[in-house]
Amino acid sequence: MPGLEIGSSTDAAQDATADVLIMGAWGGASPSIATTVGDPIDATLEAQLVKVGFKAKTGETCLLPAPEGISATGVLIVGLGSRDAADAATVRKAAGASVRRASSFTHAASLLHSLPVEGAAEAAAEGTALGGYSFDAYRSKQSDRTLTAVTFVGGDDPSIGRAMAFAGAVKLARDLINEPPSSLTPKALAAAAEAACPPGSVKVKQVDELQRDGFGGIVGVGQGSSEPPCLIMISYAPAGEARGRVALVGKGITFDSGGLSLKDAKGMETMKTDMSGAAAVIGVMSALPALELPIAVDAFIPAAENMPSGTAIKPGDVITQYGGRTTEVLNTDAEGRLVLADAIALAAESKPDAIIDVATLTGSIVVALGKKITGLFANDDPLRDALLEAARRAGEPLWAMPIFEEYRKDLESEIADQKNIGTRYGGSIIGALFLSEFVPQGVPWAHLDIAGTARAETDSDESPKGGTGVATRTLLHWLRTLSGGGDN
Ligand code: BES
Ligand code: MN
Ligand code: ZN
Repeated sequence: MPGLEIGSSTDAAQDATADVLIMGAWGGASPSIATTVGDPIDATLEAQLVKVGFKAKTGETCLLPAPEGISATGVLIVGLGSRDAADAATVRKAAGASVRRASSFTHAASLLHSLPVEGAAEAAAEGTALGGYSFDAYRSKQSDRTLTAVTFVGGDDPSIGRAMAFAGAVKLARDLINEPPSSLTPKALAAAAEAACPPGSVKVKQVDELQRDGFGGIVGVGQGSSEPPCLIMISYAPAGEARGRVALVGKGITFDSGGLSLKDAKGMETMKTDMSGAAAVIGVMSALPALELPIAVDAFIPAAENMPSGTAIKPGDVITQYGGRTTEVLNTDAEGRLVLADAIALAAESKPDAIIDVATLTGSIVVALGKKITGLFANDDPLRDALLEAARRAGEPLWAMPIFEEYRKDLESEIADQKNIGTRYGGSIIGALFLSEFVPQGVPWAHLDIAGTARAETDSDESPKGGTGVATRTLLHWLRTLSGGGDN
């Protein structure tokens, strides 16, 4: 689909000059129109829905010819499930499902923003923008999707603008994730950050500087590849006085072959996705100038390609991480923690109010929580609670996991300060414990393990198959709340 244009208009729904009008229906014994436009139109539609046996489960859709009095050609009804259970997440899902169903039209009008649900306008706009996303850069034939515009009719809502800013950040993240790995190298990731953020806000440490300054993790992981690694740093500072200063860190492994501890073919298929943490952080940073949040944010993105070669790091090698701690690398496929350790140590130097890292870190978190829940590890209760709340607002399921101290001894090395793997079990906790070594006492820190959620294997709700851009909106909601932003 060419870029989907999303706007709003004060035209009445009945008069919308679109070829399809998207409306919502509550589920139950017989579905009822939730985006009412008044009888006889509502009653006619309800009668038709009963006739075709439509149950109005969340995201279920039904296309009907428009009844008398509606100028659009068709009406697309999307189910919202039970009225009592409906919340902003329901609206977001329904909007995502309906925009995909409407893809063979040209111009859709939508009433989903007017649903009597808290935060409906923002959720409808977000769900529409995100559900309508597709990545077609590498198709030789135009896809058969023709939808170019969705207009929310029957009134303007200021939160639609914010939703579009958030959705824009997610779309950027998805584009970066979906880009093939030989095209999205560390260098290209840095260029993408520069293109998406204001001039002068991005600084890139190249490999010679990284070597000189002791970033042994980033240099070590990158040394097996002909694409040099780099450290991308992005800064946002508000125009006025900042109410706080936080650091974001994103894992930017642009391809993870496992290195000499090589993955099998299946395991490598989706490993262009291993920079999804970086993509989320770049997405967030790209949106901050327009949102004008009164908080300073520094982003640190260690970017590298993890490849096997004659120059690659070997199991048994010892590297010196930024700040001086040494790591015995026993498995070169546990590379994310090596690059993140350097970046976290650097981020901590200026004692930010909080550090949050986002990383496709472990297969183990996918075993624990599956493909739809992100794992959260935090050393600070208020930060954990704030992130859980931000994730709830964003509709991005997040679950708190333990940083279980007794497992720390699993990381003891025979010859260095720690090794980079533990025993077979509890791998996501071991990963978090490893990272925690680089967070100084007293600095609130959270780690989001998005290995399961960074990529969707099927179209669902507001996430089409492919890179999801997960964590982008959770972080934006968190930053907005930190800044004292509104509560919806
Ligand atoms: N990038 C992977 C984690 C991953 C797995 C992301 C599946 C997305 C889907 C990471 O670098 C990795 O390989 N982790 C190893 C660590 C192990 C060697 C300790 C893993 O989880 O198997
Ligand atoms: Mn790996
Ligand atoms: Zn990895």
